[in-house]
Amino acid sequence: MGKGQTLHAHLLDASSNGTIDDGLLTLILDLVRVSCTISDEVNRAGLADILGVTGERNVHGEEVKKLDMRANDLLIDAMRESGSVCGMASEENEDAIDASAKGESSEYVLFFDPLDGSSNIDVNVSIGTIFSIYRRKSERGTSATPEDYLQRGTEQVAAGYFVYGSSTMLVYTAGNGVHGFTLDPSKREYFLSHASIRTPSRGRVFSCNEGNTNTWCSGTQKYVASLKASDTAGKPYSGRYVGSFVADFHRNLLKGGIFLYPSQDQGPGKPRKGKLRLMYEGNPMAMVVEQAGGRASDGARRIMDIVPGEIHERVALIIGSSDDVEEYLGFVK
Ligand code: AHG
Ligand code: MN
Ligand code: MN
Repeated sequence: MGKGQTLHAHLLDASSNGTIDDGLLTLILDLVRVSCTISDEVNRAGLADILGVTGERNVHGEEVKKLDMRANDLLIDAMRESGSVCGMASEENEDAIDASAKGESSEYVLFFDPLDGSSNIDVNVSIGTIFSIYRRKSERGTSATPEDYLQRGTEQVAAGYFVYGSSTMLVYTAGNGVHGFTLDPSKREYFLSHASIRTPSRGRVFSCNEGNTNTWCSGTQKYVASLKASDTAGKPYSGRYVGSFVADFHRNLLKGGIFLYPSQDQGPGKPRKGKLRLMYEGNPMAMVVEQAGGRASDGARRIMDIVPGEIHERVALIIGSSDDVEEYLGFVK
């Protein structure tokens, strides 16, 4: 696996050494093909007048930007057309999406966040697509069932993300390390640029929306305050938060650091609530970060051990360098 190897060659190697089977290879190549179109449209968004909002709202009541829906449609159409999944679930769709007839024989179920960082679409800040792939539990030959969707993150067979930034990258794992590829838009081909990514055990960066400080538990407040102390070895850390989880995660994965979206106080008598979604934000990034030597927790549980109750389950997310996550847990446990 040499630097500069094409993604296709890398995937064929992975297929011949048994890391991925033909069905997973087809599914990943479908995602790659769609990512090239999304990347192209993200880069032209300002020109092609597809900026702005559709005026619609998604299942979470959030305003949907046109590129979200476009990316969502591209992914759903591609998967149905190729038949590479027996079912899929998207941030933008309230219910799971049935496969095409062709897809019912597929082994795989796909979750995706078609465009993560929507608030940054029209201000030229990096955004991304996150995906998570499971093997179905139910018999092949039918559409996916609820038990196919409600699996722990430890059951993922592959996960990763595309980040549309100064360059477009794919970072993915199929359980055999984390590998990063950079797109050459002129060739519509990805090339291996970050082989076997390992995240530093400790960083000097923390990423969180400090506007939410008053909604955090006291342990989180004390932890973040401790990162700013100047009388402690290795502190203060730098604050870096762009508001696109994929972009903040990717920077911390490569350079080390911790991303926090803690659960928030919802007012008297109401349960605390996380913002990010377990199945298509928390779990895929947890698989990537653990494969790279990092950790992902909700403050009490390992993210990938959480048994989901529903496909849009929200979760508190503390993710990144293992020593930093460990230090956070010491403040909240
Ligand atoms: P999405 O655009 O897919 O809804 O995700 C947005 C998420 C995540 O990307 C980011 O880290 C977080 O929302 C930012 O939330 P705040 O604006 O509340 O900080
Ligand atoms: Mn998102
Ligand atoms: Mn999104």
